[in-house]
Amino acid sequence: MIRCPEVFRLSRSRARNAAPSVLVLAILMLGAMPMPAVGADAAAGKTLALQWCSSCHLVSQDQPTAASVSLPSFYDIAQDPDWTETTLATFLADPHPKMPNMSLGNTEIANLAKYINSLRPQ
Ligand code: HEC
Repeated sequence: MIRCPEVFRLSRSRARNAAPSVLVLAILMLGAMPMPAVGADAAAGKTLALQWCSSCHLVSQDQPTAASVSLPSFYDIAQDPDWTETTLATFLADPHPKMPNMSLGNTEIANLAKYINSLRPQ
């Protein structure tokens, strides 16, 4: 019983110290928002994905033919925290050597990245 107020005070001071850093983090995250995402169109990205990527990757549940199951599906990619719209955009600007040399424009890349990201479970 004697320790109760002590614990209370400790947790209150922790909370007070944590508040500014949470705020700083939030501001940093806002600053890190990927620029290509502005105005990107996930629906157009899906069309592109079905056209360009579905011969290898599973890009959508409504894809008519199942692609190679050994490759990461776009759902896998969406769930991987390392793949954000920014890292996807960077990757797609200079694709993996095992992927065909696609030359995608900036708008196409942004739309694809936005689409893949939209598959992430909310
Ligand atoms: C000809 C087959 C082929 C096509 C078409 C293709 N890819 Fe890939 N992709 C691959 C292969 C193979 C890998 C995996 C290579 C590895 O893991 O080493 C890969 C890996 C990836 C990865 C990295 C996944 C990870 O977790 O490492 C992303 C992202 C990706 N592809 C996106 C796309 C997008 C977007 C398109 C369409 C614009 C596309 N790919 C079209 C074959 C393809």
